[in-house]
Amino acid sequence: MQFLADYLAQVKADDLYRQTVAYNPVSPAHVQLNGQTCLLLASNNYLGLTHNPAVQQAAADAIWLYGTGAGGARLTTGTFPLVEQLEQELAAFKETEAALVFNTGYMANIGVISALAGPNDVIFSDELNHASIIDGCRLSRAAVVVYRHADMEHLHSLLKATVCHGKRLIISDGVFSMDGDIAPLTTIAQLAQQYNAIIIVDDAHATGVIGPGGKGTAAHFGIADKVQVQIGTLSKALGAEGGFVAGSRELIDYLKNKARSFIFSTALAPGTIAAARAALRELSVRPELVTKLNENALYVRDLLQSANIPVPGGITPIIPVMVESADTAVRLTAELRQQGIILTAIRPPTVPVGTSRLRMTVTAVHEREELAAAVDAISRAVKPLRKT
Ligand SMILES: Cc1ncc(COP(=O)(O)O)c(C=O)c1O
Repeated sequence: MQFLADYLAQVKADDLYRQTVAYNPVSPAHVQLNGQTCLLLASNNYLGLTHNPAVQQAAADAIWLYGTGAGGARLTTGTFPLVEQLEQELAAFKETEAALVFNTGYMANIGVISALAGPNDVIFSDELNHASIIDGCRLSRAAVVVYRHADMEHLHSLLKATVCHGKRLIISDGVFSMDGDIAPLTTIAQLAQQYNAIIIVDDAHATGVIGPGGKGTAAHFGIADKVQVQIGTLSKALGAEGGFVAGSRELIDYLKNKARSFIFSTALAPGTIAAARAALRELSVRPELVTKLNENALYVRDLLQSANIPVPGGITPIIPVMVESADTAVRLTAELRQQGIILTAIRPPTVPVGTSRLRMTVTAVHEREELAAAVDAISRAVKPLRKT
């Protein structure tokens, strides 16, 4: 199979070779690597709930009560009362009639999009949407019209110019996973109304992060009633695993019958479901977690700006430090790792060519002093680039 070696040689030559690194988590904000304790600035565990005692206890209790696996798909034997309770709680959290849990956010996106759109339909998709949205669009076999990132004039002109004999759907990340900016959802909602389009928003990085009580992007803009399909994940701020969609009862019943990634996969394990339920409860009883997260994000953004580090504006805890070339991103993350700071090098195809970056994520459980020290180290690493 020569093609395997050829492909690997090519990605190595392009500085795009990927490999896994085994980090040993010792807290939500720290990992051990080769015996060294490092500061983790690369996790989507925004509220630190993976190590919250109430969440850990709930997962452990559920394992002892119900076992380690679900043993069946949701439509066979995999629907435990626990998951139905979680779905009711998610619906209450999102203030929708109903919600449906998928095994991952990725599976929620591919399942929902391919169930809602078909060959006669047109999907309008932001150019920086997550890979799982892109894959969902491909699976749907709908025509896909890509608009420039967050460019509402472009979206408007494409809506106007595109002939569509079926449904129109507009799909966007709520908070963009690699840029950390927020989709202009109010304008999207106006355009959707004008062109009779369904809105799907993917709140993977918005759930537990933005909006009152961390309720997500539509709540952030106060337009939850205008967004028909809200997707989220349990795997980031909620510290568990799984994806979900929230919307009308009819939408959820339809998806139970149509979304293939929901139908044809074994349900999530009870421990995971229990962890997600406990995390949702923590989110509702400890609103200060979201406040602290947002304060930490602004603190780091201010520090970087004062140090003249090239960071796009914004408010979210996803902070991309732009370094342009893939090899620089890889070199700098290795350098910073030596100093005990973990960031992720983000390169094509995850982001467009020439926009490689160090993706930094801040959490509610980082201490100010460690954040300040990390920004110092990042500034020292990045500044020489700006002089060349
Ligand atoms: C915007 C976005 N949507 C969906 C996903 C997939 O979610 P999950 O990791 O739960 O599969 C991710 C993360 O990987 C993401 O960043």
